[in-house]
Amino acid sequence: MSTRIGIVTGGGDCPGLNAVIRAVAKAAAKRGWESIGFLGGYEGILEPQRYIQLEYQQLGSLLTRGGTILGTANRGRFSAKVGHGETRRLPQELIDGVKAGMRTLNVQALVCIGGDGSLSIAQQLFEGGVPLVGVPKTIDNDLEGTVMTFGFDSAVACATDALDRLHTTAESHNRVMVLEVMGRYAGWIAIYAGVAGGADVILIPEIPFTYDSICAKIRQRTHVEKHFTLVIVAEGAREQGGEFVTAVDQVANREARLGGVAHRVAAEIEKRTGQEARACVLGHLQRGGSPTNFDRALCTVFGAEAVELIAAEEYGKMVSYHVAGVGAVNITEAVGRLKTVSADGSLVRTARALGICLGD
Ligand code: F6P
Repeated sequence: MSTRIGIVTGGGDCPGLNAVIRAVAKAAAKRGWESIGFLGGYEGILEPQRYIQLEYQQLGSLLTRGGTILGTANRGRFSAKVGHGETRRLPQELIDGVKAGMRTLNVQALVCIGGDGSLSIAQQLFEGGVPLVGVPKTIDNDLEGTVMTFGFDSAVACATDALDRLHTTAESHNRVMVLEVMGRYAGWIAIYAGVAGGADVILIPEIPFTYDSICAKIRQRTHVEKHFTLVIVAEGAREQGGEFVTAVDQVANREARLGGVAHRVAAEIEKRTGQEARACVLGHLQRGGSPTNFDRALCTVFGAEAVELIAAEEYGKMVSYHVAGVGAVNITEAVGRLKTVSADGSLVRTARALGICLGD
């Protein structure tokens, strides 16, 4: 009987998911294995089962295509996160359902592609006896155990491009432009794009800000005839002693939806400095479109490595990017606590060395 593996994409989508699916299916086919892709996240494994056969000939256009051909879900029975990032335990019947679903389709192992939530689910399934490996996905780059998750570079490229565009209009109108980017409780997108896009103020969750500090920076720029200011703010950034800004009221048993901090920051800046300020929320543009070259390469290496791990029966591992190359770590090393920007790490120090205000 030939080996058959199943691929699952869970959580929010991001550029590069299809590139990983392609790489896994191609590397598996090279070994003479069959691959199927479950539709709609882990739900597709349960009855009524929903999946597609991933034939080698159909994989050609996937490298550059955004989104996921398998669909994904970040809510429902398999959502692992509630509130501000607390992990939920999976009921035993779901774990049993996944095992039964794999048996029905004769799937020997799963490749679970996801972020903190979906890989927390994967870890629980693994502990329940499901043979699987993980691939780290998220634009937020907040998984421990890997230098970079795929999707992050593409999101940073999008945010940097947005800053470049805001730069010219800010300068023309002598305005303060405040760009809000995603990232949940980590400031990776904001700090990378902020440094790459020449922001004057970078606000991240890891360093709570004060308006005094931000406004002092704006006044200092005015003093040297710079009559515009670029601010990039992570959706999870908050004022010292303040709360997270959430887009809508908290729904029970769902993860909090962050959003809206840019409007708050812009209004406060305008009130305090008298300078016109505008907010721009980049939103899901960061998750759409084609992956960058870096992400395409990373996804391809990750996908091929995931198949190697299955061949070696190294279950419970997540492929990970180290500076020296790609290796594997236990999924437990990646989930449960978020990897956040170090407040005295090299990027923050670089930002400070360039005179960028971090709001503290
Ligand atoms: O985790 C990825 C992410 O895009 C976060 O940066 C953001 O807070 C969240 O997902 C948005 O989720 P949704 O698409 O469900 O609004």
